[in-house]
Amino acid sequence: MTPPSFETDIKPMFRERDRQSMQRAFDLWSYDDVSQHADAILNRLQAGTMPCDGSWPPAQVDLFQRWAESGKPR
Ligand code: HEM
Repeated sequence: MTPPSFETDIKPMFRERDRQSMQRAFDLWSYDDVSQHADAILNRLQAGTMPCDGSWPPAQVDLFQRWAESGKPR
């Protein structure tokens, strides 16, 4: 199976609202920022404490985890 890529699979999961809310800490539409903060992001997604208005379905969290663990392809 092809590993997920940032542009095709990961970035589209972040809504405009997510990006704006988190802009002070990092840019969720930036490959470099999301790669750099992937551990913190994954922790929050798994804990269900982000996004602030409702946790992601498990399939989306799994997809992010697979991307982070497969070398973060662009
Ligand atoms: C999928 C979307 C989101 C992800 C992956 C995400 C991720 C994170 C992460 C990793 C932190 C910790 C940052 C740090 O300590 O440096 C954080 C903090 C925070 N986020 Fe988000 N966020 C998302 C969406 C949102 C939304 C929609 C809101 C709502 C306004 C929000 C509000 C906050 C606030 C207020 C904090 C600081 C307080 C705290 O640590 O709980 N985020 N977020």
